[in-house]
Amino acid sequence: MDNLQNFHRTNYCGDLRLSDVGKTVSLCGWVQRQRDLGGLIFVDLRDRTGLVQLSFDDGTDQAVFEKASSLRSEYVIAATGTVRERESKTDKIATGAIEVYVTELRLLAKAETPPFEIVEHSKANDMLRLKYRYLDLRRPEMQAAIATRHKITKICRDYFDEQGFLEIETPVLTKSTPEGARDYLVPSRLNHGQFYALPQSPQQFKQFCMIAGLDRYFQIARCFRDEDLRADRQPEFTQVDIEMSFADEKQVMDMAEGLMIRVFKEALGADIPQPFPRMTWDEAMARYGVDKPDTRFGLELCDVTSIVRQSGFKLFASAKLVKAMRVPGGESLTRKEIDELTEFVKIYGAQGLAWIKIRENEWQSPIAKFLSDEERKGLADALGLTVGDIVFFQAGEPGMVNAALGNLRVHLGEKLGLIPEDAWNFLWVTDFPLYEYSEEEKRYVACHHPFTSPKDGDLEKMVSDPASTKARAYDMVLNGNEVGGGSIRIHEAGVQRHMFEALGFSKEEYESQFGYFIQALEHGAPPHGGIAFGLDRLIMLMSKSPSIRDVIAFPKTQKATCLMTNAPDVVSAKQLRELGLRLREEAKKEEK
Ligand code: AMO
Repeated sequence: MDNLQNFHRTNYCGDLRLSDVGKTVSLCGWVQRQRDLGGLIFVDLRDRTGLVQLSFDDGTDQAVFEKASSLRSEYVIAATGTVRERESKTDKIATGAIEVYVTELRLLAKAETPPFEIVEHSKANDMLRLKYRYLDLRRPEMQAAIATRHKITKICRDYFDEQGFLEIETPVLTKSTPEGARDYLVPSRLNHGQFYALPQSPQQFKQFCMIAGLDRYFQIARCFRDEDLRADRQPEFTQVDIEMSFADEKQVMDMAEGLMIRVFKEALGADIPQPFPRMTWDEAMARYGVDKPDTRFGLELCDVTSIVRQSGFKLFASAKLVKAMRVPGGESLTRKEIDELTEFVKIYGAQGLAWIKIRENEWQSPIAKFLSDEERKGLADALGLTVGDIVFFQAGEPGMVNAALGNLRVHLGEKLGLIPEDAWNFLWVTDFPLYEYSEEEKRYVACHHPFTSPKDGDLEKMVSDPASTKARAYDMVLNGNEVGGGSIRIHEAGVQRHMFEALGFSKEEYESQFGYFIQALEHGAPPHGGIAFGLDRLIMLMSKSPSIRDVIAFPKTQKATCLMTNAPDVVSAKQLRELGLRLREEAKKEEK
C-alpha cells in the first residue's frame, strides 16, 4: 500500500473542465469503476464533487499501468496526471469533455466489495443502507442532502447573527421539560437513584436566557423525544430555536418569516411572498379538519349539522357534528376505491364513510333514500353540488369527524393529483386552544407547553372554562406540515402558578417540580416569546425527500435503533453497579 507523503491535492474531481486542458492535476478519491480494455484502462474517480475519468494506455509507465489494472470499486487512490480533451465526450457527467491521463498513481486503501452499489437512486433496502450508512452517505444524492443541510444551517446562523441574536448552548444533561413527549433518561453515577432527562427542547433554558438579560437567543439545538416515530419524526432531531425579549407575536412572526424567505431564496432560489397568510386554529379546524392545513388545494370541509338535524338518517340526526367534503369529479371513484377510503378513515376512529354520487337526475348513495327534498336542497346549496361530484360525510364526535375528513382530504389530494408540485404554501395558524383534554391522563394538558401565555383577557377562564381558553401560540405550516411552533410566554410568576394549578398540579407538586422556574420569574422577567423550527423536517420538505432520515447523517430506525453502531446496547454489570442500577430480570433471577 502507498502513502500520501508529499502528495498534495490540487483539484476536486468534479470541478475539471475543458478550460483545464493541459494542466497537471493531483486528485484523490474512490474508484467508482474500473474498465480494463486490454491496452487501455479507464477509472472513474469519485470525490464529494463528482466523477472524473482517469485514463492509462500503452504509453503509461509499466508499474503505474499494472497498479491501475489492480484497482477495484471503492479502492481509495491518489493520482497525478494531465488534463486532456476526451475523444468520445459524454454529457452525463459535468466533467464529460475531459479526462486525466495519469502519470503517478498511489493506492491508499483497498476495499471490500460493497453490499450495495454506490450510485444515485439506490434500490438497496433501507435497513442495509442504515447498517452501512458510511457507504450510503457516499452516494451523490446523500452527499447533496448533507451539503444542503450545511448550507441551510449556515443561512440560519448568518441571519440570526445579523439580527443581533447570540448563539447560546444549553445543557443536554438536564431536567425534564414538559413538551408532551416521553423523556429519555440518563442515570446519575454520582447521585444514585437520580436521573437527568435529555431535553425535549431548550424551552426553559432559553427563557432563563431572557431573564438573564441576553435579549435575543438562538441555537441549532439537538432535542430528544421518546415518541412513536413517523416519516417526519426522529427520536433525536434538531431545532432552530429562538427567543426574543420585549417582543410580541408580530415581532416573532416577522423574524420567523424573514428567516424562511432568506432560506428559500438562498438555498432554492425561490421567492416567498410576505406576509404569510394567517388563519386561526378555529378556522383551520372548521375548513380543513386539522391544525396544519395544506392550502395547496381545495376540497374544504363544510359543517352541515343544521341541514341534516331532522334527517331520516339517524346517524346524522343524532350526531354532535356532521361534516361534508365535496370532491369535484369524484363521481368516477369505483366501489373498490371507496372501500379503500373507508378503510383509511377507520385509522382515525371512524366507523364508516357515508357518500353520495351526484348524477344527472339522481343522487346515488346507500343513504339517498333517507334524505328529504329539503335536505337535498340544503346540501346542494351549502356545498355547491354539481353533476359529477362525490360528497363524503362524517358524523359523530367533533374530534373524530375532523380528523377523519381532514386526513381523508389530504389523502384524496394526493391520490387525485390535486397538489401542485412546486408550490410552497406557508401559513400561520394562530390562537390555539391553551389546553387540550387528555383522555389518557383524564385531565387538561397544555396544548403547546405550560409556559405559553393565555390570550389577554382569558386569564379568568383558565380555571373556570379551560376548554375555551385561547393561547398566544402560533405554528408555522408549510404545505400541510408543521415546520415550527412557538408562543409568547408567561412572564409573571403569579400567572405561571395559575397555569400549573389549571393543569391540575397541587402547590406542592408544582413547587417541587418547577419551583426554580417560578422563582426565576420573580426576579424580573421581561415579556418574551419565541419559536422553534424543526430543521430536519424543513430540509426534508425543501429537498422533497420522502423521509426525514434522508436529511440526517446518522438517523435512527423506526424502533429508535442505530443499525450501524448497534445502539442501544446492553451494558456491563460493572457499569450498572456504578450507576446503582439493577435490571428487573437480573433482580428476579437473583431472587429465585
Ligand atoms: P414544538 O414541540 O412545536 O415546540 O417543536 C418545534 C418543531 O420541532 C419539530 N419537531 C420534530 N421534528 C422531528 N422529529 C420530532 N420528533 C419532532 N418533534 C417536533 C416540528 C415542530 O414544529 N419549545 C417549543 C418551541 C417554542 O415554544 O419556542 C417546542 O419545542 O417541526
